[in-house]
Amino acid sequence: MKANATKIADGVYWVGVLDWNSRTFHGYGIPGTTYNAYLVFGEEKTVLIDNVYGGFVNQLDARIEDAFAQEGRDIKIDVFVQNHSEMDHSSHLLETINKYNPDGEVYASPNCAKFLNQQYHDLEGIDINTVQTGDELDIGGRTLSFISAPMLHWPDSMFTFLVEDGILFSNDAFGQHMCNSKRFDEDYPLDIVEREAQKYYANLVTLGSPMLRMKLKELTDNDIVDKIKMIAPCHGQIWKNPGIIIDLYAKWGSGVCRDKITVIYDTMHHSTEKLAYQIAEGIMSEGVEVVMYFMQHDGPDDVITDILDSKAIALGAPTMMNKPFPRIGNMMYWLDCVNFAGTTSNKNALVFSSKGWGGGAVKKLQSDLESSGFNVIDTLDVTFVPDEDVLKEAFNKGAELAKSIKD
Ligand code: FEO
Repeated sequence: MKANATKIADGVYWVGVLDWNSRTFHGYGIPGTTYNAYLVFGEEKTVLIDNVYGGFVNQLDARIEDAFAQEGRDIKIDVFVQNHSEMDHSSHLLETINKYNPDGEVYASPNCAKFLNQQYHDLEGIDINTVQTGDELDIGGRTLSFISAPMLHWPDSMFTFLVEDGILFSNDAFGQHMCNSKRFDEDYPLDIVEREAQKYYANLVTLGSPMLRMKLKELTDNDIVDKIKMIAPCHGQIWKNPGIIIDLYAKWGSGVCRDKITVIYDTMHHSTEKLAYQIAEGIMSEGVEVVMYFMQHDGPDDVITDILDSKAIALGAPTMMNKPFPRIGNMMYWLDCVNFAGTTSNKNALVFSSKGWGGGAVKKLQSDLESSGFNVIDTLDVTFVPDEDVLKEAFNKGAELAKSIKD
């Protein structure tokens, strides 16, 4: 096949692949994605940074050939840098090494080397040079500086900084699941890029927030942040304006939230739904933004995305068999997995339910939310259909929740 490489700086090319039709990744919904790999031409060595997912090697090869053609150089890759071992960035590593230079040097973090060998058992014969923060590689007029980035988002994750050009190859960190014909942040509506970056952070990076804060401090203290002119992640758009995504990560990672409350509910016969609507009216009466999700048709990935920068949530489910209506369970599982407590945001919560007789949903949801780091400030447990007095109570509790997040 024929496919073009995209020059992102002099002698630096995007040679990644487009996965137009992928609709789920790591269990959450996406509008397609890219697996970004990069070729860097030094005066002495040519470097391939990262690889692609299984089944896309023809696209990768075509772009590699085009990059060499654009540079007017014979095809030979001297160095293979693997910033992370997950299969979407490593599936064709062995094949690529064998095709472009079986004697090439391979660089990865110690955990990445271990994980690669545990995933691709036939890599045992490849000698991987393990590197960590502070290690550098001179490729002729250009320097690769390696930066360990554990838990952003795996224990093996690493960044590679192209020092002279100020390009940070960040692998999964700072990425977004997007697939389009444009490669840069500024080529696409920024609000969409930021929203996809937020979804990516919320669902994949939140758990690593403490490590992210430490990494951003380390990069700042070592004067690297000021030298970053471009961030080239392994998914989605390349940040020509790296300050945008660095600032967003700093906010998300440290629990900076907006005056926004996410209302999440499920319902059987619309009673819990009536409470949700009244709670939303009460929140809005205090001038606070509401985002509403109904778990019959909304996904937990979008809920998690909005909870990330919400100061509070209101969570409701009818009681069924002494527990919350089961469809809310998937969302609660996600909430427990991502662990917002790590962002230090200390979000408030209101729990509400409609029951027939014994109840049980409120108690279970309150307990689960508190285990996930939420501060449950109030509850509303209603018997069957809410009357006008109960609806007013729901409105007032929504208003009180909104007041609780105002400074
Ligand atoms: Fe952790 Fe994009 O793989």
